[in-house]
Amino acid sequence: MAGGRLLTWFLLVAVWWSAAESLGVNWGTMATHELPPKTVVQMLQDNGIKRVKLFDADESTMGALAGSDIEVMVAIPNDQLATMNDYEAAKKWVSKNVTKYNFNGGVHIKYVAVGNEPFLKTYNGSFLRTTFPALKNIQNALNEAGLGSIVKATVPLNADVYSSPTDSNVPSAGRFRADIADLMAEIVQFLNQNGAPFTVNIYPFLSLYADAHFPIDYAFFDGTATPTPDNGINYMNVFDANFDTLVSALKAVGLGDMPIIVGEVGWPTDGDINAKVSYAQRFYAGLLKRLAANQGTPLRPNTYIEVYLFSLIDEDAKSIEPGKFERHWGIFRYDGQPKFPMDLSGQGQNKMLVGAKNVQYLPKRWCAFNPNSNGDLSKLGDNIDYACTFSDCTSLGYGSTCNGLDANANASYAFNMYFQAQNQKDMTCYFQGLGTITTQNYSQGDCTFIIQLGYNAASPSSSPLLLVLVLVYLVMRILV
Ligand SMILES: *[C@@H]1O[C@H](CO)[C@@H](O)[C@H](O)[C@H]1NC(C)=O
Ligand SMILES: *[C@@H]1O[C@H](CO)[C@@H](O)[C@H](O)[C@H]1NC(C)=O
Ligand SMILES: *[C@@H]1O[C@H](CO)[C@@H](O)[C@H](O)[C@H]1NC(C)=O
Ligand SMILES: *[C@@H]1O[C@H](CO)[C@@H](O)[C@H](O)[C@H]1NC(C)=O
Repeated sequence: MAGGRLLTWFLLVAVWWSAAESLGVNWGTMATHELPPKTVVQMLQDNGIKRVKLFDADESTMGALAGSDIEVMVAIPNDQLATMNDYEAAKKWVSKNVTKYNFNGGVHIKYVAVGNEPFLKTYNGSFLRTTFPALKNIQNALNEAGLGSIVKATVPLNADVYSSPTDSNVPSAGRFRADIADLMAEIVQFLNQNGAPFTVNIYPFLSLYADAHFPIDYAFFDGTATPTPDNGINYMNVFDANFDTLVSALKAVGLGDMPIIVGEVGWPTDGDINAKVSYAQRFYAGLLKRLAANQGTPLRPNTYIEVYLFSLIDEDAKSIEPGKFERHWGIFRYDGQPKFPMDLSGQGQNKMLVGAKNVQYLPKRWCAFNPNSNGDLSKLGDNIDYACTFSDCTSLGYGSTCNGLDANANASYAFNMYFQAQNQKDMTCYFQGLGTITTQNYSQGDCTFIIQLGYNAASPSSSPLLLVLVLVYLVMRILV
């Protein structure tokens, strides 16, 4: 009896441990107001997150990670790939951004991401010639620095580098995209020679977003009426099907056993009809349970998969060219507070993550549209447009949390987002006499009228850029 209980307890701990072991998160920093890096690292630790993937090697982020036991993937952005085609520059990058942190109490760097989805079709091939040379130079520089056995260079790739023919559309027919097949074969051979993993980003949400006829249940993990049959396997979700399409593509180039890391996977919570909290909660609950159980996929059953959730915190300055949901991928809001119950241990407990501590906010002041002002109401549309051009109005769109506001509240929402983005400077609530500063919180339902963070009130890096943008905007308005 006691032995049985001990064994159960032991198994539970083992399962919990493996789940905590496997989970990583993407930490992006494209926000108008950022939490201090130390606060974010504390959040990671409070939630037992042991791995983090970055999009650069920013010194303040690295400084905050120093001395923690968190494993880190640092990154070289796409616009630096060409530079890294020069071996001396690559050596310098490794020396400044990897070797420098390799000391007791430094940063536990495990991977260098060379580029970020450089072969996306929307880049029109811009990085096709520079990515592989950059990868070789970085790994060779790591090897030369004596770090090659502990730090691996890899290229986080989007899932559109491989596919299966549309007529069969089964995972077992997976191949690398025809236009880059030779390049991909060379890259995976090189990764393999260096013991580096293949890194892929998999987005069931985007499958749904891109295709109105996509069977919605197939995006989640709790069963579907429309599985994909493939050689006796019934694929029950698009994540498995996608992952195994890659396994087949690797097999076709002779490397079917190559380690695969999922560099990004997640579900956004706003900015689209399918980007909502209930779906995100359902998606993560299913994913985390499978990861904790080391379920693997049909072609790699009972396997631990190293996964980095996308993403940690909402980023209100991300490009919305791919869609308005881009600013809402965080499992935490902009201020580091959890959005919905989520059990990272995969045990399905209904509990919230631990939020950021001691967060500083600006004062409790909002900017609102004043319909009784003496301002010229015919200018209202232009002013909303202006506010939304320089702040984040993605929650106002169709199917989003603030879509149900009436016209006045809608205007107030836009004015407030701009006012908050501008650190509540009084003059930024003027709007040609249509705006007014208030202490009344107009939040309603799921639509939150936020107060921004009180850090970097005079952000040295973002304000000049914003100023230039504002000037360009004003000049263009005068011209047209
Ligand atoms: C190190 O990384 C930072 C941040 O990504 C980058 O700005 C810098 O240019 C890199 N250093 C070198 C020597 O390339
Ligand atoms: C790719 O090409 C399309 C069409 O020619 C163009 O609209 C787009 O701006 C290009 N994108 C990039 C990143 O060069
Ligand atoms: C609210 O504002 C957005 C952004 O300017 C606009 O697209 C939408 O039509 C507005 N809705 C209402 C009800 O005024
Ligand atoms: C405003 O109201 C919303 C909804 O009641 C609430 O969640 C939020 O915390 C309030 N904001 C502030 C700054 O008090």
